[in-house]
Amino acid sequence: MPLVTTKEMFEKSMKEGYAIGAFNVNNMEIIQGIVDAAQEEHSPVILQASSGAIKYARPNYLKKMVEAAVEETDIPIALHLDHGPDFETCKACIDAGFTSVMIDGSKYSFEENVELTKKVVDYAHERGVVVEAELGQLAGIEDDVNVSESDAKYTDPDQAKEFVERTGCDSLAIAIGTSHGAYKFKGEAKLRFDILAKVKEKIPNTPIVLHGASTVIEELVAMCNENGANIPGAKGVPDEILNEASKSGVSKINVDTDLRLAMTGAIRKVLKEEPSVFDPRKYLTPARDLIKSTVQHKIRDVFGSSNKA
Ligand code: G3H
Ligand code: 13P
Ligand code: ZN
Repeated sequence: MPLVTTKEMFEKSMKEGYAIGAFNVNNMEIIQGIVDAAQEEHSPVILQASSGAIKYARPNYLKKMVEAAVEETDIPIALHLDHGPDFETCKACIDAGFTSVMIDGSKYSFEENVELTKKVVDYAHERGVVVEAELGQLAGIEDDVNVSESDAKYTDPDQAKEFVERTGCDSLAIAIGTSHGAYKFKGEAKLRFDILAKVKEKIPNTPIVLHGASTVIEELVAMCNENGANIPGAKGVPDEILNEASKSGVSKINVDTDLRLAMTGAIRKVLKEEPSVFDPRKYLTPARDLIKSTVQHKIRDVFGSSNKA
């Protein structure tokens, strides 16, 4: 099956109440771990690359590795640009064969975000590519989650409706309390499901995206720390909350941090336990295996997309 857009996978996910995992890719082992997990679960999957990842892996390598994954599997796979910073980056990815791009205009004013997103949508739609946009701001929310002024950073449901109508974007990333990285909450992990419900009421047919949605899996953090890392007090979104989100209208759940922890933990463990090892395959194989089992757990036990391919 060739690369697909997210259109059909999201339509099915909205109708049946589950989410698709969107996993960040940077190299071959990560791509293989994710795709092997999705294939075994018979689940659709989104492989997403940030501009940093594209620069790191180099555009051609990334594209060809994803092409190899597509050739070896029979599940729907979308190739998505994560956090496209500007029109030019989105255009380059569309021209290179990405089937989905995100234009992240969340740092701009509402009007500027509308204008930039619309420009990307027009270019993408003419070429059969879908566009994810973002409204509301994730960063920093966790610092003052109990302060009422922080509400201003959450996505406004009325604005979401106007934004989608004016831009024609295909999916919308919203801010309901998640944030990127390994330190999402100081106190109890909590998402604003009330805002999600209002957004779904206003734009019931628009797939909703959750960024910053890693669980920051305790065992993986411990594996890193027990083998020489220094990542104290890390905290993410628990599985139960993500499972509820998957059933409440979130169609795409973004995961990067958990894969970083899995890879780092597995590599650190081998290098600490077997100091004589210097064959990269000896530590990259367990790293790839741990990425696979981490992704498989999310797909099967949390997002609910097993057997939806
Ligand atoms: O949301 C951001 C992703 O975790 C990608 O991070 O820009 O360091 O590749 P990156
Ligand atoms: P995490 O840092 O929670 O994995 O979020 C990743 C993400 O949102 C990528 O866009
Ligand atoms: Zn993100």
